[in-house]
Amino acid sequence: MRPDTIRAGVIGWPISHSLSPRLHGYWLREHGIDGTYEAIAVEPGTLETRLREMAEEGFAGLNATIPHKEALLAAADVADDNASRIGAANTAVFNDGRIEVSNTDGFGFIENLRQSAPDHDFRRPALVIGAGGAARAIVVSLLDAGATAVLIANRTAERAAEVARTFEGVEAVPWEQRAGACRDAGLVVNTTSLGMAGNPPLDLALGDLPPNALVTDIVYNPLETPLLSAAKARGNPTVDGLGMLLHQARPGFEAWFGVLPDVTDELRAHVLAELAT
Ligand code: ATR
Repeated sequence: MRPDTIRAGVIGWPISHSLSPRLHGYWLREHGIDGTYEAIAVEPGTLETRLREMAEEGFAGLNATIPHKEALLAAADVADDNASRIGAANTAVFNDGRIEVSNTDGFGFIENLRQSAPDHDFRRPALVIGAGGAARAIVVSLLDAGATAVLIANRTAERAAEVARTFEGVEAVPWEQRAGACRDAGLVVNTTSLGMAGNPPLDLALGDLPPNALVTDIVYNPLETPLLSAAKARGNPTVDGLGMLLHQARPGFEAWFGVLPDVTDELRAHVLAELAT
């Protein structure tokens, strides 16, 4: 590596299946940038030490994925408002040895819908299924985008109740009443891993959903989850989850490499080719 090469990467445990090196590698080539983006296995419990080492080694910054998102926030010297509200961070910039973190998952979620469903009105009420870290990021982004109401349903009721207590404008609905909660929804989001290859599908009856409500999933393998198939079959507009992964990566790339990259059909195809292997 030449001394001027800008280094970034993604840390996780395990990390071998991450698609991030492929997508950042595409953007680096597209923009002719002298940079690298590596997948780095970091064992839980060693994060803070490894972060300081990587800052010393000259890394510009990092993405963090499971299980490091909460620990990255805890290790940060500075956190942006989103990361603090969500309680987790996925992007770090090393600035003169200081670790500055942000959470771009909600940005990725909203930008994916803006690009793929430009007619969607974000003021419409949303129904969020699941109450984990991804759900918190999505709830915050929907409130910021102007949602007039956000309903949240989760198998473990207490986790949904906690999200509702934390964020004004969010109401928890019992898991058993999730189908009925579709009645007033303009947007339905699955934030659980249900529907992912190898997992059972999300069990959500869509009979009460308005025909023009948008249905989206954070699962992108397969691209068309059983939830999206069911929504399509009854004529609802749908957006798959791959675009959220691609869009959440853009702010980090801009911070480290100096260019805000685009999400194009070619990039999608390039990343999908790896999913297919
Ligand atoms: P993340 O932080 O990535 O969102 P997580 O915190 O493990 O991941 O959250 C996963 C979500 O999927 C949770 O809402 C979880 O529901 P519980 O809080 O009840 O565990 C949901 N989930 C996972 N498997 C599920 C299943 N079989 N049925 C219903 N919900 C499920």
